Amino acid sequence: MPTVDIHTHMYPPNLMTLLRQRPQIPYVRTFDPKIGERLIILPTEETSTSTAKGRPIGPAYYDITQKIAFMDRHGIDVSVLSLANPWLDWVDSGVASRVARGVNDEMEGMCGGEGREGRLFFFGTLPLSASSEEVVGEVKRLKGLKHCRGVVMGTSGLGEGLDDPRLDELWKVLESEGMVLFLHPHYGLPDEVYGPRKSEYGHVLPLAMGFPLETTIAVTRMLLSGVFDRFSELQVLLAHSGGTLPFLAGRIESCIAHDAHLMKKSSAGGRRDVWDVLKKNIYLDAVVYSQLGLKAAIEASGRDRLMFGTDHPFFPPSEEAEGEWLSVTSNVKAVRDAMGDKKEDVDAILGGNAVRVLRLGV
Ligand code: URA
Ligand code: ZN
Repeated sequence: MPTVDIHTHMYPPNLMTLLRQRPQIPYVRTFDPKIGERLIILPTEETSTSTAKGRPIGPAYYDITQKIAFMDRHGIDVSVLSLANPWLDWVDSGVASRVARGVNDEMEGMCGGEGREGRLFFFGTLPLSASSEEVVGEVKRLKGLKHCRGVVMGTSGLGEGLDDPRLDELWKVLESEGMVLFLHPHYGLPDEVYGPRKSEYGHVLPLAMGFPLETTIAVTRMLLSGVFDRFSELQVLLAHSGGTLPFLAGRIESCIAHDAHLMKKSSAGGRRDVWDVLKKNIYLDAVVYSQLGLKAAIEASGRDRLMFGTDHPFFPPSEEAEGEWLSVTSNVKAVRDAMGDKKEDVDAILGGNAVRVLRLGV
């Protein structure tokens, strides 16, 4: 059974050129040649005055040969690439469609490159600042690209989050085209929650807390607004094992059950509960770094709905080293620890589920 990485990012070279030219977030800049290029994508990063602000960004982020080298080093047979955050959320509406087509065609080209056939697939990027027709049109176009297996997007949707009724056209086309939506965080939580000493803690609070909570809130808003009742076949792959959704699903249901207004509305509308949606509409990646989180994910959605990922090239080893990355080995270990001697289940989570769900065997 192949090992498949369904959570692995890139900024394609032409997009890097755009990011290098930008004066504001998101951008790439060299503040100090001794330190090298830096990636600035989060507001918390922009407030720093250091020449080492943001994060280092090297060829692993944009050179496909480095992705293949990383895969080879870690025994990863197949990767499903996605553009990294903040995708094209920042692009002017007038050019968003053209930029999205460019990014997606570049991804398709990288996947189909010589000697790579069968090793690379991708989730396409949507021009979310463009018109609804353009967004829907790009989904349909992506469906026709040989290596595209779904779309990636963040939690802002068209600017008002994922409970926005204007997104129904998108949910409808994703459902009818059978395209999986990979939902990934970027915006985190309001900066105030991290407190006045946040800069002392590097990226830990926004990445370990902000990201998962953002995902949890976004998907809960989809649930509460009835997206999964109206589009019962829509399939959503949640980053980072669903944020905290598996852990909080019981609390979400309990809060709904104790809300008279919501209960009245939902019993009239045939509401599906969180547990049902988790088992029929939600896939979870296994990017959670411990068997405890993984067991909750398995319990919530089922072992046939979990898929291994690395989040490469984010979370490189802190020391430049030749060996394997901790961010990869800890996720593999979590799968093995959680499944014990159930080899079939280990194989399914490390690759079999992705091959089946994302049709990677063809
Ligand atoms: N940090 C990010 O900004 N994105 C990721 O996907 C992972 C870490
Ligand atoms: Zn990621």
